[in-house]
Amino acid sequence: MELSTMFFLCASLLFIVLFFRTLIKPYYVSKRRDLPLPPGSMGWPYIGETFQMYSQDPNVFFASKIKRFGSMFKSHILGCPCVMISSPEAAKFVLNKAQLFKPTFPASKERMLGKQAIFFHQGEYHANLRRLVLRTFMPEAIKNIVPDIESIAQDCLKSWEGRLITTFLEMKTFTFNVALLSIFGKEEILYRDALKRCYYTLEQGYNSMPINVPGTLFHKAMKARKELAQIVAQIIWSRRQRKMIDYKDLLGSFMDEKSGLTDDQIADNVIGVIFAARDTTASVLTWIVKYLGENPSVLEAVNEEQECILKSKEERGEDKGLNWEDAKKMPITSRVIQETLRVASILSFTFREAVEDVEYQGQ
Ligand code: HEM
Repeated sequence: MELSTMFFLCASLLFIVLFFRTLIKPYYVSKRRDLPLPPGSMGWPYIGETFQMYSQDPNVFFASKIKRFGSMFKSHILGCPCVMISSPEAAKFVLNKAQLFKPTFPASKERMLGKQAIFFHQGEYHANLRRLVLRTFMPEAIKNIVPDIESIAQDCLKSWEGRLITTFLEMKTFTFNVALLSIFGKEEILYRDALKRCYYTLEQGYNSMPINVPGTLFHKAMKARKELAQIVAQIIWSRRQRKMIDYKDLLGSFMDEKSGLTDDQIADNVIGVIFAARDTTASVLTWIVKYLGENPSVLEAVNEEQECILKSKEERGEDKGLNWEDAKKMPITSRVIQETLRVASILSFTFREAVEDVEYQGQ
């Protein structure tokens, strides 16, 4: 992994949850009997501390654990014995030792996102998906949709007029619409409401207790997930009917014959990318608003830079709308984004599974 990526990951992560699904048997005894497991509690047999975590704000659960046990502690959540780490040093250690830890998610979350989504894989399948996703988000691919993104931003701004808003929620709406545009192109407008209804239900159940019985948030989320996959299947079908193959969006990239993906793999990865792109980007945007609010001189500099671009377009008699060339003339705005990515905590946590016993700082 590149150093810059490493740094970015560590800055944006608060927690890494390391699962020891198969390795610690019984789970509270280390195979290396001379080394202790980190401090902490494994809770009740099988259930572990899952109820404690979900009966309060998970952030409060984690904060109280850190206060009691420090930045590395053991626990047992969502059916998995695990060690949670929250220091940048430990995060660097784990992310640097790719051979010792493989990407994983708790089984309930894996089911919800789709087993064939990029996050749960390594090797050739993973590399292929990564290439397909990256291809759609390269400047060459997104430069044509800048005006459409601006139009989504303007619609958002208009909808905020005269009302008090919660920035993060509004940014989530904005990033959801941009994600749909990047995935389905201009066709997204036809399916936006249905996709939104299903995705929002899925999201509500994502961090719920994974009990799949009617009435629970988890059950509703699983139903919504099924419906989402059906909508994606319907869009794929309708594209095939029209026999148009030159789509530049993510779905087009996934549907390309050379991609070798099945329809189920496409659906899992479409849902996965919405999941990966939405809250992360909304969080960055929210932090930017906060930092600019706290630093009026920087806000003024950003405003000036934007006004200057608009003014010079007017002077040249160009269309006022934003385009890719304009986006390249924003060094101050760009630095604000880079600095926010550096200092803000964006992803609360991620998961890894140890493939063998690991020693870190004598534990
Ligand atoms: C600025 C906002 C973003 C942040 C802070 C962010 C952060 C991250 C982090 C930390 C990971 C690694 C998670 C892990 O290894 O456990 C990740 C993975 C990923 N992100 Fe983002 N992300 C952002 C935006 C996006 C967007 C817009 C997309 C849309 C394509 C995206 C797609 C992905 C995908 C597909 C992965 C899995 C990559 C792999 O397994 O190789 N992310 N992201």
